Amino acid sequence: MKITIAIDGPAGAGKSTVAKILADKLGLLYIDTGAMYRAATWLALQEHINLEDGESLAEALCHKDLRLESPEESAGGRIRVFLNDHEITDAIRGKEVSDRVSTVAAQKMVRKVLVEQQRKLARGRSAVLDGRDIGTVVLPDADLKIFLTASAEERARRRVKDLEGLGEKESYDDVLRAIIERDKQDSTRQEAPLVKAADAVEVDTDGLTIEEVVNKIADLCKNGKGGRKDQ
Ligand code: DC
Repeated sequence: MKITIAIDGPAGAGKSTVAKILADKLGLLYIDTGAMYRAATWLALQEHINLEDGESLAEALCHKDLRLESPEESAGGRIRVFLNDHEITDAIRGKEVSDRVSTVAAQKMVRKVLVEQQRKLARGRSAVLDGRDIGTVVLPDADLKIFLTASAEERARRRVKDLEGLGEKESYDDVLRAIIERDKQDSTRQEAPLVKAADAVEVDTDGLTIEEVVNKIADLCKNGKGGRKDQ
């Protein structure tokens, strides 16, 4: 039986970590759509395309092969990202891209190209997709929609830790400010703003371990408690 799970929510709520583990646990394909907007941002920087010139960037994206690959165990579970054959897995997680990706994600033409690619990747398959507009735009008919949240403070603590892992050091206050700013941009932009789908189940991850969050979603899935089914 085919099943699609949409996980949306703000930056740092733990979507990608949870989605990846959930996909492995249930044997589903995992599609990290944020990584695709990050790859588009990396491409714009690389090719000196104005970040607000959505049309040129969309055109450039159409000529590249953007590929997401499930990691080997040894790669620490992170999805690997390639543009043509160039690996950009780490580059897209750094500050340069993180600080600019909201601008790129706000471009209508970029979204059009990437949403199309996301639907194509998921077509006819069982998959978990995470992002901001999966339940509202990309897969409005997803079988289970989750809206994953956490307080801005909790998300800032997690982000500082992640950056440390990448060898980048930033103060908690700066990170918190950036998160609040990014939330604002993502939820007030004109194109596919971050909003909870009417039929999504909200899961607040404050104080929960990753395992607890994964189990909660797996239970919702098993019990057919997707918003679509019981509302
Ligand atoms: O989840 P993330 O931090 O990797 O996402 C990077 C950026 O891309 C973030 O600003 C939100 C945006 N994004 C989006 O607009 N739509 C998606 N489906 C996924 C991410």
